[in-house]
Amino acid sequence: MCGIVGYVGYRDVVSVILNGLTNLEYRGYDSAGMALQDCGELRIYKTLGKLINLKNELEAKKYELKHPSSGIGHIRWATHGSPSLVNAHPHTCTCGRLVVVHNGIIENYKELREELIKKGCKFKSQTDTETIAHLVADEYANSKDLEIAVRNSVKKLQGAYAICVMHKDTPDLIVGARKHAPMVIGLGEGENFIASDIPAIIEYTKKTIYLEDNEIAVVTKDKVKITDINGKELVKKTEILPWEPVALSKLGYKHFMLKEIHEQPDVIRNVLNGKLYDIDEPVILNEVKLDKEILKNLNKIQIIACGTSLHAALAGKYLIEDLAGISVEVEASSEYIYRRTTTDSSTLVIGVSQSGETADTITAIKQAKEKKAHVLIITNRPDSNMARLADSLIPVNAGIEVSVAATKSYSAQLISFYLLAIYLAEIKETVDKQSLKNLKHELIQIPSKIEEILSDLKPIQNCARKFSSYKNFIYISRGINLSTAYEGALKLKEISYINATGYPAGELKHGPIAMLDETMPVLAVLIPGGITYEKILSNCEEAKARNAKLIALTSSNDDNLKNIFDVVIKIPKVNEILSPALTCVPLQLLAYYIAEFLGKDVDQPRNLAKSVTVE
Ligand code: F6R
Repeated sequence: MCGIVGYVGYRDVVSVILNGLTNLEYRGYDSAGMALQDCGELRIYKTLGKLINLKNELEAKKYELKHPSSGIGHIRWATHGSPSLVNAHPHTCTCGRLVVVHNGIIENYKELREELIKKGCKFKSQTDTETIAHLVADEYANSKDLEIAVRNSVKKLQGAYAICVMHKDTPDLIVGARKHAPMVIGLGEGENFIASDIPAIIEYTKKTIYLEDNEIAVVTKDKVKITDINGKELVKKTEILPWEPVALSKLGYKHFMLKEIHEQPDVIRNVLNGKLYDIDEPVILNEVKLDKEILKNLNKIQIIACGTSLHAALAGKYLIEDLAGISVEVEASSEYIYRRTTTDSSTLVIGVSQSGETADTITAIKQAKEKKAHVLIITNRPDSNMARLADSLIPVNAGIEVSVAATKSYSAQLISFYLLAIYLAEIKETVDKQSLKNLKHELIQIPSKIEEILSDLKPIQNCARKFSSYKNFIYISRGINLSTAYEGALKLKEISYINATGYPAGELKHGPIAMLDETMPVLAVLIPGGITYEKILSNCEEAKARNAKLIALTSSNDDNLKNIFDVVIKIPKVNEILSPALTCVPLQLLAYYIAEFLGKDVDQPRNLAKSVTVE
């Protein structure tokens, strides 16, 4: 969603802010803007569409700039008011001397706006953000101190915000504040940064301070002062970032998505590392902070998540129920938060999120905590808001995922669920030791089997070419790979804009079969050896009888499949229960190549954001 970068220091301010925004670009946006303090002038530039437009605008107006020494930049993903120049950030107060950029949503902006209009403020945009500019300017008129003005203003705001404010009268000073939206300070020598996420600053510094809710940061080139909402100065811990700037490079791949798909074998090795090092030994999951006696008697788990993380959660349900015999409910966070749930102090609630910033899931987690449930978070961002709410935290360590479509984080979440399910099964002694040993043995081999899939992309590319002109798909499966069908269909929808629906194969005949004809291909995920293979095969025969084109994703060597299916995509032999860790990969690739053939913006699909920080 939106992104913020602020900088005060000796470098080329325009380049630092543009670079920072470029590294946040993956989050999704529709317009961009920048405000610069330039030798006593406050200059503002805004453009619609991609950042290259802002870059070109700044290049074209280079003659205006003398020597900018600080600035704030923003990419906007429209919430209040359409994507337009007037709604793009930064926003100014009536006199134009104060500028604000903002991530989040101000819920009481209408009331505040009315009050400010009565005081004579002239609004130009439809945004909630502009209210903040007028509000801070109004406070500044009284205090003549930007820090105090911001502090007094945020006390009046309801909702979520990460803001950066500059004033023409206070050159090279940025005031930042946050509540329910992330904000990080980057520390340098003779320079300092403030941003909504670390990719924006990682090229310049690894020394960071995370701002917490209701904290205010005053950033100059030589000093960062952080206070609480009452003005009390705080001593904050400096953290050193674990990521290298190389994480933000495509390393020769055409798109980040393709690079991230190829990173999956190493990502999985990383997840297993230190947790499953010897198949004769129990899985080590010290991150789970619940007492083993409590886990032994645990009989209810609820998993809440959105999108791709929800699909990993669904696979997690099958795994935990199958291996540990614990009843698991899986629910979209956006549903969980608006109903009376049965969560109580004996429930283990698991929140799954790549970003750790998804607003629906954060709200759900807070509700679960209010009900005294133990909350375990599985996330790729141990520095996120969600991680901070966790009673137990399993970081999945997939590294920065830049492509909007989640791939490697999904695999990392899946593997975390395998580890958790085995861990619980070992504590509860629900599966015999030899079977678990075999399972662990196969789990360790998953990365090399994915490498096998990645070593021959031709069959998937050919399938993509053959099917890229179809407008509708159904992805079917049963059992644990139903999650794969959902996830494969979501990937295709997201990046190619082709209608694709994941469906339980056995449900086809209860409705969707009515749509089947030669224009609607059916992709089936079917793994022999399990209890669902023959059943899915029968469901495919039913689809074939309605002239649907059929694609199989399977580990079967049965030559007869060629008589039923138009295309057979083969994966290495795998135990059905572990197969989602493999089957997801060809479906990510299929979506990727179809989108690529269609010339879509693979890494930044329209209307989507990497981290959905609004409900
Ligand atoms: C799919 C995708 C989204 C996210 C969803 C949840 O490729 O990226 O569906 O999975 O917005 O995001 P997180 O996992 O960050 O909570």
